[in-house]
Amino acid sequence: MIFRKREVFDPDYLPEEIPFREKQISQLVSCIDPALQGFAPLNALCLGPPSTGKTSTIRFVLRRASDLETFHCSYIRCPTSKDSYKIFSKIFRDVFSQQPPLSGVSKSVLVEKIWSKLEKPLLVVLDDVNFLTSECASEVIYEILKAPDEHGVKVGIFAAATDVRFPLHLDPFAGAVFRYFEVFYPPYGRGEIREILLRRVKEGFSEGCLSDEAFERVVDIASGAADVRYGIFLLKTAGLIAESRRALRVEVDDVERAHEGEAVPFLAKALAALNSEERAVLGIICSVREISTGELYSLLSGEVRMSYRKFYDVLEKLERLRLVDIAFGEKGVGRTRYVHAKFGEEVFEKAMKLL
Ligand SMILES: Nc1ncnc2c1ncn2[C@@H]1O[C@H](COP(=O)(O)OP(=O)(O)OP(=O)(O)O)[C@@H](O)[C@H]1O
Ligand SMILES: [Mg+2]
Repeated sequence: MIFRKREVFDPDYLPEEIPFREKQISQLVSCIDPALQGFAPLNALCLGPPSTGKTSTIRFVLRRASDLETFHCSYIRCPTSKDSYKIFSKIFRDVFSQQPPLSGVSKSVLVEKIWSKLEKPLLVVLDDVNFLTSECASEVIYEILKAPDEHGVKVGIFAAATDVRFPLHLDPFAGAVFRYFEVFYPPYGRGEIREILLRRVKEGFSEGCLSDEAFERVVDIASGAADVRYGIFLLKTAGLIAESRRALRVEVDDVERAHEGEAVPFLAKALAALNSEERAVLGIICSVREISTGELYSLLSGEVRMSYRKFYDVLEKLERLRLVDIAFGEKGVGRTRYVHAKFGEEVFEKAMKLL
């Protein structure tokens, strides 16, 4: 048996401990504290790049607090509830444990019903709130936060977003009522990613069923992509591949296959939207893995004619699409910038063939 507990690799698995997020957890706990004593929870805005533990820490503090039953909580995944009617229907269901009145009831009637029957403080979590249009986010936030004044209820909002500019997109009405504590989630470093994945491995795999080499490869890929979630996905997929070949241990090849199986279609889709110059630049980066922007430009000049200005635009686009990473070199002279490939040459060539 390769897996001891396969569910620890599921996307919605919430571990017993969330290392490296003690500060964020304690900030969220202080925002919930008033609700434990019958007051309104304080608003919080969780900001940070994808996969940095925003959802996990929110669920973590809610798991501990909601046993106490001193307040209601409604957890909304904005990508699946994209309009305000759906959001208030979900709040209704969560608070009253029953279906909202049949459709036909207007949103304002629905909202009225919620406030008029609400007996305990309410915390609304708007997770991935940047998936809502700014009109919708503004409307929902304003509707919720004006309720204390208009209906005497006690409410607060936890919102999570990847775009730090999110608050700027709110309209002035929502902006004026949405006062919040900012909880910031910096990207994890390599050591942190390794530790998080190691804990998952100990919990999820049977002892000795993952080779050290395979594990280090997963850490490399996950930290190259700055994505713990992808690392967890690779562990699970590599485990399934090893199982399907009836092996007793996950080897580095299983990881490579899992990564390729995911990376090739992803890259092919991205390539389809690039023009031939952009593909040429990306192809060179993938073949050398790491290169300074200056060297890259001279390599490229041998193949395509492109102005330096245009070259920079292309690099910026590739970075925005998360196809490459650009960073200042640590030891570089002056402000040398280095481009890092996220995919190897083989993955790039296989993806090109799919076009
Ligand atoms: N500190 C941590 N300890 C353990 N697991 C973690 C930690 N941080 C993230 N994870 C795991 O990584 C994955 C992504 O985390 P999470 O969903 O909380 O990130 P997020 O910031 O909400 O990302 P997104 O912006 O994409 O919604 C989850 O599987 C989660 O269990
Ligand atoms: Mg999330």
